[in-house]
Amino acid sequence: MWLFTNLAAATDHNTLPKVQFSDALPTSGHLILGVYAEGQLGPLGRQIDQQTNGALQHALTATDFTGDKMQTQVITAPMASGLQQMLLIGLGSDAEPLSARDWQELAGQAAQTAVEAFKTLPPIAMDANQADGLSGANQALGALLGSYYFDRYQTDPEKQKSQDAINVVVANPTAAQTAFDAEQKPLAQAIWLARNLSNEPANVIYPESFVSQWRTHFKGMNDIKIKVYDEDDMRQQNMGALYGVGQGSQRPPRLLVVEYMGGTKDQAPVVLVGKGITFDTGGISLKNPPNMWNMKFDMSGAASVIGTIHALAGRGAQVNAVGIAALAENMPGPNAQRPGDVVTSMSGKTIAIRSTDAEGRLVLADAIHYGDVIYDPAVLIDLATLTGSVGRALGKDYAGLFTRHQELVEPFITAGLNTGEEVWQLPLNDNHFKAIEHEVADVMNSGPDAPGASAGAAFIGEFVRESTPWVHFDIAGVAWNDKATPTKSSPGSPGFGIRLLNEYIKTRFE
Ligand code: BES
Ligand code: MN
Ligand code: ZN
Repeated sequence: MWLFTNLAAATDHNTLPKVQFSDALPTSGHLILGVYAEGQLGPLGRQIDQQTNGALQHALTATDFTGDKMQTQVITAPMASGLQQMLLIGLGSDAEPLSARDWQELAGQAAQTAVEAFKTLPPIAMDANQADGLSGANQALGALLGSYYFDRYQTDPEKQKSQDAINVVVANPTAAQTAFDAEQKPLAQAIWLARNLSNEPANVIYPESFVSQWRTHFKGMNDIKIKVYDEDDMRQQNMGALYGVGQGSQRPPRLLVVEYMGGTKDQAPVVLVGKGITFDTGGISLKNPPNMWNMKFDMSGAASVIGTIHALAGRGAQVNAVGIAALAENMPGPNAQRPGDVVTSMSGKTIAIRSTDAEGRLVLADAIHYGDVIYDPAVLIDLATLTGSVGRALGKDYAGLFTRHQELVEPFITAGLNTGEEVWQLPLNDNHFKAIEHEVADVMNSGPDAPGASAGAAFIGEFVRESTPWVHFDIAGVAWNDKATPTKSSPGSPGFGIRLLNEYIKTRFE
């Protein structure tokens, strides 16, 4: 009986917590309160202070809390407020306006600190003064992202931290709700789905289940068309590179294409291509077991590009965009490809397999060529957990950006700074292309004499027409968090790239 009740109450992990806005402060339970530098209270804080005859201000002076940006402190709430405990979050100087990214990170940090401290997420009262509701909507987005937990396999209720609802206190609840529903909600929903897919183990997410899950998530959305290529289709299209990676696994490869036509008919689409290796053992060039455990996230690029399409469709963006996921499981086995094998790609170029562990660029070779020639894109972008090398160069701070079209760099750096998904350009020059020449085939899939991340980028570039404005993002360093960040609570996938691509598309194409 107890067990049944418990199961019925279980959270649906693909559905966002319900977000509600209110202009009234709660009079019981806990509260998250934003406080400016030097303990300055905003309107909501002053309201509580007046209610309690200055007890809040008094309590503040009794702590070390300064209100510096991102600082947090739990205090016992003044009795007359009716509240129990308050989590204070520093907003920094009230002379400095806070950006969308600031509000998201502040609310995210506050939300996860509160969940850790209180085991529940209290109403967030951070002083959203803006009449247009944008700061409140961004707080809601940040709180959603910051309090995301992949806890669906924890059967101990003590360890389940996912929240059912998020309440934000703002000056204008209707404006905040309208802004949130139009913009931040579809974005959060897409990031949520991408995180879930990337965190799911490889016995749950493999090429076919990746496809079927997205089919479900796109149901009922407007202007969406889904195409799926199976092994027979791949053979027919001469996608030998993608097919070759997939042939070692019992779970067959797939190419998933999701078209969103929210723009005008004649408008060239933005084409997004993602590496979708649902598990990377390295294949016959087997990885060391200690480096293998989290290789379920090797499909993060694919999850983020399809997630971006989901976000665009969710907010009805007026743009044409196509997401292409190159899906395969990289396994050793009697039918796996070997080092030294030569495969022929859809482009006609032949590839010598030097390492079966450089599989991401192989699946991308066919997927990106397909995206380039079928769609003639306005811009072609790929996202891939491609190399360990990029993580050693840039750590967790930046995704690596590679391009032959220098004019594409600045817009992405700006979009990265605005969203918190930052990027840094790394070189791509003729030497990198020379390093992947081969004596038997047109190219080989690793360039031992070149820096790893640049050689990987050059390999992908071999399958894109030089005239096509193309950007490659190597997200191997940033697609898995070992530690919490303000917008991502526990270890796992942050769903990197959806905010970046959404912002880029919004500012450049809508
Ligand atoms: N999926 C890996 C890259 C990776 C490594 C992602 C570590 C995240 C953390 C990729 O398929 C790979 O194995 N790359 C090789 C390429 C090499 C064999 C040319 C690498 O970086 O070592
Ligand atoms: Mn690999
Ligand atoms: Zn890989």
